[in-house]
Amino acid sequence: MTIKRISTGIPALDSLLSGGFKKNSVNLVAGGAGTGKTIFAMQFIIDGIKKGEPGIYITFEEKKEKACEDMLEFGWDLKKYEEQGKFTYLEYNPEQVKKILTEGGGIVESIIEKTKAKRIVIDSVTSFSLLYEDELTKKEASLALFELIDKWDCTGVLTSQDESKDDNTITSAMEFEVDGIILLYHVKKKGIRERALEILKMRGTKIPEKTISMEITSSGIKVDPKKVVEF
Ligand SMILES: Nc1ncnc2c1ncn2[C@@H]1O[C@H](COP(=O)(O)OP(=O)(O)OP(=O)(O)O)[C@@H](O)[C@H]1O
Ligand SMILES: [Mg+2]
Repeated sequence: MTIKRISTGIPALDSLLSGGFKKNSVNLVAGGAGTGKTIFAMQFIIDGIKKGEPGIYITFEEKKEKACEDMLEFGWDLKKYEEQGKFTYLEYNPEQVKKILTEGGGIVESIIEKTKAKRIVIDSVTSFSLLYEDELTKKEASLALFELIDKWDCTGVLTSQDESKDDNTITSAMEFEVDGIILLYHVKKKGIRERALEILKMRGTKIPEKTISMEITSSGIKVDPKKVVEF
């Protein structure tokens, strides 16, 4: 059986991932402040909407009005898609996300049923994982969340704020449990900052072992697989 792939929203990245994320997988997009996590997540959602796969975006950090305004810069009209029932923006706090788990879905599940959402984003999971004190409960909560995403027949992108990613090691429970991890960088070299993207892991997928150049353009994130970035 061939694995069904879901586009990441970045064509050149899909080509590095045998076509994209595995359907129903959960993928972490990690990076420091301003590395492009939110733009990546939104681009994934917009790509879905354009392909008839509605999306749901859950965030603790960004205010809806501001986020909608920022995304218009890329030509992504979230308000319009929301009116059309193809997109849902949920301002949720970590406690509310935790409640989704204890209730086994709750309101998010009913929204997914109603809108037939196929792509889900949580931006970011950093504050959510802080709710859990030890690695074991964190791991259990992560697994419960991933099971729900799979049960909903959705493919997920979770963002995570990660400042200390220089050594590229997987440390947190969440990172062990996700199907894929993409790292975003914005690193200073000789006084100039460069953006780059690295696929750290992708279960069931052959991945390149190089960190590639990334750009944020007026139409969103673009990567150049031929351009390897050396830090
Ligand atoms: N319209 C645009 N055109 C080009 N670059 C942009 C545009 N809008 C934002 N950017 C760049 O993208 C960066 C922010 O990207 P984004 O909000 O996705 O980062 P983030 O990783 O989510 O940050 P945070 O950790 O603060 O949530 C900005 O700092 C800016 O450099
Ligand atoms: Mg962000």
